[in-house]
Amino acid sequence: MKLQVGAKVFSKRFLLINVWGSLLATVLLLCLAIAQQPQSSKQDFGELEKVALAELAETNTPGAAVGVVSGDRLVFAKGFGVSKQRVGPDTVIGFVAETVVGATAGCVPPAPGYFERIREICDRYGVLLILDEVMCGLGRTGARWACAQEGVAPDLLVVAKGLGAGYQPISATLVADKIFAAIRDARVTFMHGHSYQAHAVACAAALAVQRVIREQNLIANSQTQGESLKRLLNERFGDYPDVGDIRGRGLCIALELVKDRETKEPFDPAMNLWLTVMLKGMEFGLMCYPGGGTAGGEKGDHVLLAPPFNINSAHVEEIVEKLSLTFNSVFNHV
Ligand SMILES: Cc1ncc(COP(=O)(O)O)c(C=O)c1O
Repeated sequence: MKLQVGAKVFSKRFLLINVWGSLLATVLLLCLAIAQQPQSSKQDFGELEKVALAELAETNTPGAAVGVVSGDRLVFAKGFGVSKQRVGPDTVIGFVAETVVGATAGCVPPAPGYFERIREICDRYGVLLILDEVMCGLGRTGARWACAQEGVAPDLLVVAKGLGAGYQPISATLVADKIFAAIRDARVTFMHGHSYQAHAVACAAALAVQRVIREQNLIANSQTQGESLKRLLNERFGDYPDVGDIRGRGLCIALELVKDRETKEPFDPAMNLWLTVMLKGMEFGLMCYPGGGTAGGEKGDHVLLAPPFNINSAHVEEIVEKLSLTFNSVFNHV
């Protein structure tokens, strides 16, 4: 497929589709999309969303199919201020998703075959597949790329956290050859940038981190320690009354906290349970990453565990032990 970047070619495409619960982090594409839609108005987006979903459903487009396949709601990326006009597959510039959803929903891997189907649909309609692996990429899920575990290659891939492992602030957008070629050959100025992009010290730190990961075989360690962490968590909390689900991949694991194990009914969000768990965990020396809104955006609590890639089996046991002390103290079941 010959892809061209230029106002004329892309003028019809102004919508980005984003899976609900995923974090939209592709500033590059947002800039592109907004640049292609200069006559924006202050149209109520809620209204457009309804119209768009209805039309997409009728035309059997990716958006509608995705919603059905994942059982998720679909929303259009906000902030475009688009005027009310016809929407359909030819107006969609990209589909953005986290391959494994991280902090927002608590380590949710895709349903089997989900991304293969998305890739197929994107190819059919000339829609760019943009994957956000800021959290799940670069070894966190036990593979260098979470999308490789799904057997797909996106058109654009964003990474950050694992790139510099926190030693330096650095992120990157990886693009497929066809995107690279389109930008190179477009003969227009590609307006993008940050004050400190490609910062030499940050790049050197990222390179050093990636070398250590390779030399010490830390992605394999993420896979094996992740498996044993998940096994121990299942042994300890598999029947725990307040734990509704234990999920994730590699060293990206979450426990969903529920009021009722059978119905998965969440706790009252006013309790801010996730915050209580975080503070109590710190008392026991456990730094976990809890979050709220797990179940539908407003309700729901989860605890995310994302330890460093170089943990050993003693650390894994320590995490489970400290989480156990935390839960027992918060839920008072002992
Ligand atoms: C999945 C995901 N995407 C994007 C971001 C935002 O990244 P940044 O803070 O580098 O802009 C985050 C931050 O937590 C994230 O978890």
